[in-house]
Order: sequence, then structure tokens, then C-alpha cells
Amino acid sequence: MITLTRPLAASALTLTLALAAPAGVHAQARAEAPIALRIDAGKPGAKIDRNIFGQFAEHLGTGIYGGVWVGKDSPIPNTRGIRKDVVEALRAIKAPNVRWPGGCFADEYHWRHGIGPAENRRKTINSNWGGSVEPNTFGTDEFMDFVEQIGSEAYISVNVGSGTVAEAAEWIEYMTADPATTAGKERVANGRTEPYKVKYLGIGNESWSCGGAMRAEYYTDEMKRYARFVRNYNPKQTGAEAMQRIAVGPNQGDTAYTEAVMAAQKGHDWAWNIEGLSLHSYTTGGWPPSYSSTSFDETAYAKLVHETLGMDGLITKHSAIMDKYDPEKKVPLAVDEWGVWLAPLPNTNPGFLAQQNTLRDGIIAALNINIFARHADRVRVANIAQMVNVLQAMILTDNDKMVLTPTYHVFKMYVPFQDATLIPVSFDAGTYVQGDIKLPRVDAVAARDTQGKLWLAVTNLDPTRPASVLADVAGARATSARGQVLTAPRVDALNTFAAPNAVMPKPYAAKARAKGLNLDIPAKSIVVVQLEP
Ligand code: AHR
Repeated sequence: MITLTRPLAASALTLTLALAAPAGVHAQARAEAPIALRIDAGKPGAKIDRNIFGQFAEHLGTGIYGGVWVGKDSPIPNTRGIRKDVVEALRAIKAPNVRWPGGCFADEYHWRHGIGPAENRRKTINSNWGGSVEPNTFGTDEFMDFVEQIGSEAYISVNVGSGTVAEAAEWIEYMTADPATTAGKERVANGRTEPYKVKYLGIGNESWSCGGAMRAEYYTDEMKRYARFVRNYNPKQTGAEAMQRIAVGPNQGDTAYTEAVMAAQKGHDWAWNIEGLSLHSYTTGGWPPSYSSTSFDETAYAKLVHETLGMDGLITKHSAIMDKYDPEKKVPLAVDEWGVWLAPLPNTNPGFLAQQNTLRDGIIAALNINIFARHADRVRVANIAQMVNVLQAMILTDNDKMVLTPTYHVFKMYVPFQDATLIPVSFDAGTYVQGDIKLPRVDAVAARDTQGKLWLAVTNLDPTRPASVLADVAGARATSARGQVLTAPRVDALNTFAAPNAVMPKPYAAKARAKGLNLDIPAKSIVVVQLEP
């Protein structure tokens, strides 16, 4: 049950107020000038790497067990133990990569516990997340099966905190070695002949904290050993397909890690290198997270949106340091944990990080994606935390039931932006004011997709005022726009198992008028349209 301390724009209420408003006010609202938005289609920018739409699946709460893995004997429809409904949903958003097995869990994960006959697997305690029993029934082969079922790629985070270089090296060898080798034969015995593809190798996780509380200097020495000795033997992974090693980078604004890792990278020699620097940054509203995922007022909404928009400054700050050492931008910034981290749902294990997901979260997802897209030249990997049932999830499950969240729908609407070319957009966003918080009213990005079609995404983050946008497209013809809009009567609207379709994308269309393409963007909405010639 949702309770708002201050109602947020129920549509019926808005209508009543509008009808009752004095004529002058009404006329003034109608006379508001549209937001002029210019799209420079003739000035293409960087490629928006599809991997900024990556997912993160940690052994945490019901993120894996229940959310992805139900076991081969489950009455829940599954393929080799993996939920069919979840696979289908993730295929539809073209999830490009999945980071696994953590998170903090990764630095205590021992991969040998999770291979071979299920009945022989060691049961351990998940000491990071709620002290639950980790059955290890979902291990390497199950994860790789899952990734292949959803048509995605593997981002494997190896254990630097409590593991060894040898353990990590043997793990990647197990996954990628020729079937004639001892490691390859072991994989074959577990049911897989062909080497797996490991697209990304995460060298530890948050090594400044749960990953071992290492000084940056200590971490960079470890990083070099892992980068040197953890090898990928898959013969198909050469050139552009080569595994990319992602080093632990900063926590939020901690520039010391960025400096240390990038200085080390600059000094690399033939024997080792890294191909990515990680950044973790969550929208939390303070620590520990106390904001409710279902019940919030407009001030809480504005605060979280404001905090989210800080992602831009954060990326700018770390990018500037990276530019010093890597002006050619060869090393991507991988924002491999981002999202809204709110208070655990009542009556859940607080260590399971279970939260609901509202239209607010969809708006926050769109704003973050827009920021990553604008930094496409440096941000080429990002992973929302997390994929199923944990934090800002795409998908919630409860036994055989599944619900898609507003964040899921945003990811789906943005599919055309995967591997598209960024197109510059300029506009005066106007202002949304809530108390002492001032925010831009709208945000927008444009891109040309891999088939040459032009796309525009506009987010109106103002929960009460619709925005009229007048788009002027330079360098291309745009006589109409067609796509989808995601909105709801309230910004705290959500999808539940009882009402799974409360927040759903709806068709959206607009036509050019004399002065340009006029898009009416409802309050609290995300509109993604193809601009048609
Ligand atoms: O996503 C939850 C946790 O947040 C991850 O395990 C950790 O890396 C981060 O602190």
C-alpha cells in the first residue's frame, strides 16, 4: 500500500485543479513557450557502446536463487534449471553483458565449489549477504548457460580479496582452454566442449573496502599480477574479441584510486595491461539507505533525482584524470555498479537488499543512461545493480510469478540506442523547483542507430508539469515521430504481482508542424521516439 505524505500529481487531481484555476493562471500555463531543442544530425559523435546497458547478478538475496535459478526439477518452467520467463524478458532488452558472481560476494567466491555434480557441491555461508546458505548449485557452467540463453556475454569478477592469482588463472583456464588440455577436459566432463567466451575480467571488486580494504598502491601491485597471469585461452578471442581486463577504480569521488590505477596503466609494458577502470556510484539519499522504495514525498523524489544527476560531474571528474594518462581514451570507464539503493522492504532480510521499483526509478534509470551516452567516448561499460530481485531490479519474482519493473521498460525502450552513434542535442531545459532543490525540467539524448534511423529520448522529470518540446532537426528530415512513452498517474506508481501492468510503455506519435516537430511530453515521463523522414 502506497502512502504519500504529499500527493504527487494524481492525474485526476491535476485535472480538477486545472479546471478550477483562475482564468489568468490557466491562460499563463497554456502560453508557456515550448522548449526549443536542436538536434544536429549532421554532427555524429561517439558510438554508444551497447555494453552501457549491462546487468549485474550477484549471489545476494534472491538475485540468483529463485530469481534466475530454480533447479532442473522445479515446477517453474525452466531450461536446465534456469527460469524461462526471466530468460525471455532479458532477451527482449538485449542485455549485452552480465557481471557475476559479485560484488562483495566475488572476493569470497571459490569457483571450484560451484562445478561438477550438484550433489557434491559444497554448501557455504554467504557472509556478505544475510548469512544465507550458498548451495553453489548455480556455478560457472550454469552461469555460462544462462548468459548464452539470454544472448549476452560474461563479465566475470575474480576473487582478489581472499583468493590467489593461481585460483583465478585456473578458473579462466577452465572456461576457455582447449578441450585437449586437463582444464578443458574437466570442463568437457561437466558437459561443455567448446571454450566459453569471457568478454570482461573484473580484477577484484571494491578492493578499497569489502574486497580487501587495500591501499591503492597495494591494489595496483596485485592488479598487475592478475592482469599478467589470468589468461584467456579461447582461440576465438583475439583482436577486437580479446578479453578486457577491468581494474577496480574509485568509490564515488575518490580520485586517489583513479590516479593510482591510471598511473600504473600508463607504465604498463608488453607483459600486462588493463582495458577498463571500474567506478561504483549509487543513488542512496545518504548512508545507510533509509528512503522507502514505495512511499515517498516530492522532496524525497527531488533529492534522489538531484543526487542522480551528480553522476555527470563524477564521470567528468574521473574522465579528466583518465585523460591525463590516456588522452586517446583507450581505457574505458566501466560504471559497473550504479542504481538506486533504498531501504530494504519491510519484513525482508535486510541483507537481501530487496526493494520495489517505481516510475521514479525508471526516470532515474533514463537520466543515468543519458549521462553515460553523453560520455560515450569514455564510458563504454555500465552495469545496473542489480538484475533480478535486488536493488534497482529489472525483474521481480515470487515463486512462479514475475513482474517487469519501470526500470526494465526504460531499458527496453532504449534498445535502439545500443551501439548507436551519439547525435548532439542542445536545449534550454528550464527548471523544476522543489523546496530548495532546483533541477533541469527535461533531459534529452539523440542517436542514429545501426540501421541509420534517428532516435530521440526525452525525459520530463517534473512530476506535475507537462513539457512541450519543439524539435528542430538539422542535417536530416523529420516529419513525424513514433515510439513509446512511459508514464503513470503518479511518480510512485509501480508494478506488483497483483497488478503487473500498472506502469507500461504506451504508443506515442507526433507530427511536424510549421515550426518543427512538436512533442508533448507528459509530466514524469520518458518518451523514446524514432524521428521519421
Ligand atoms: O550491489 C551491492 C553491493 O554494493 C556490491 O556487492 C558491492 O560491490 C557494492 O558495495
